Amino acid sequence: MRNIFTSLLILAFCTRYCTSVTSPGKDETIACPQPPHVENTVITIKPKLFVDKDKVEYKCIFTGDTLSNTCEKGKWKNNYQCSKFCLVPKIFDGFPQQPSKKYIYGEKMEYECNKDYKRSDVAPECTRQGWKPMPQCTILTCEVPHIKDGRISNPVKEYNVNKTLQYSCNDNLKRSQTDPVCTAEGWKPEPVCNDGRCSLPPKIDNGDIKDRVNSWYNDGAEVTYQCKEDYVMEGDSVVKCSVGDWSKPPQCMKPCLLTVQDKQITLKHKEDLKIQCPDKKRTRLICKNGELLNKCP
Ligand SMILES: *[C@@H]1O[C@H](CO)[C@@H](O)[C@H](O)[C@H]1NC(C)=O
Repeated sequence: MRNIFTSLLILAFCTRYCTSVTSPGKDETIACPQPPHVENTVITIKPKLFVDKDKVEYKCIFTGDTLSNTCEKGKWKNNYQCSKFCLVPKIFDGFPQQPSKKYIYGEKMEYECNKDYKRSDVAPECTRQGWKPMPQCTILTCEVPHIKDGRISNPVKEYNVNKTLQYSCNDNLKRSQTDPVCTAEGWKPEPVCNDGRCSLPPKIDNGDIKDRVNSWYNDGAEVTYQCKEDYVMEGDSVVKCSVGDWSKPPQCMKPCLLTVQDKQITLKHKEDLKIQCPDKKRTRLICKNGELLNKCP
């Protein structure tokens, strides 16, 4: 028992004072000067003395690389530098244009954000201190709407994309049938309170409303559209008033007018015509909203 105690004491003494004895081959008579300064590093391992075979370790601030230097015969052996570039960092909710590019100081990084996220206004620049500012993608938000004659049931400071808004309207007023959802283009549908009535139905190009047009319509009222002759309707001809808003009106697609062998021909939207071109080859012409797809060479 006493022997073990004595050995421990010697061991403890030796780890402090017996270095030259415990590390054979070390020549403590030749010392190195202070280890060289390496830019953009912190020294992580530094011996008490700088004698033969002693090691200093540096860590590069920006890259995290470890550099080491050894004292040999009174001189520091290596002359390492930290690399002078910035690596592309991980971008949450986005991605870099050139993921494996090494950017040099002063270069700016291009990156994109995922759907429903937006970039910060300033492009990140590679600097000695790393990326300034860091690339960042933040989720799109909608502002709290001010609802005339109504109030929000779940008020928060701002709403992220896909969050719904619950609201109610004052007596006798109507609100949208579905809860508005925050989208990249704002609230859909618009959170409003009204008596449900709509004003004039929307105008369309090359078409009009079949019925007599009124200056206002009750909630749920419908109007029917028609297109000019030779124009083809795309979309629903019936448009409905729903809590102050009209549904999407149809479009009237243009015909194509062409002359084939001195004859005037009208091709309606999506109609086609096979003709023989001057080079004797047959070609199929298709009309798309006033424009001919395919032509004779
Ligand atoms: C919002 O919802 C759509 C459809 O469900 C989805 O594709 C999109 O990723 C969502 N966006 C966010 C930011 O959660």
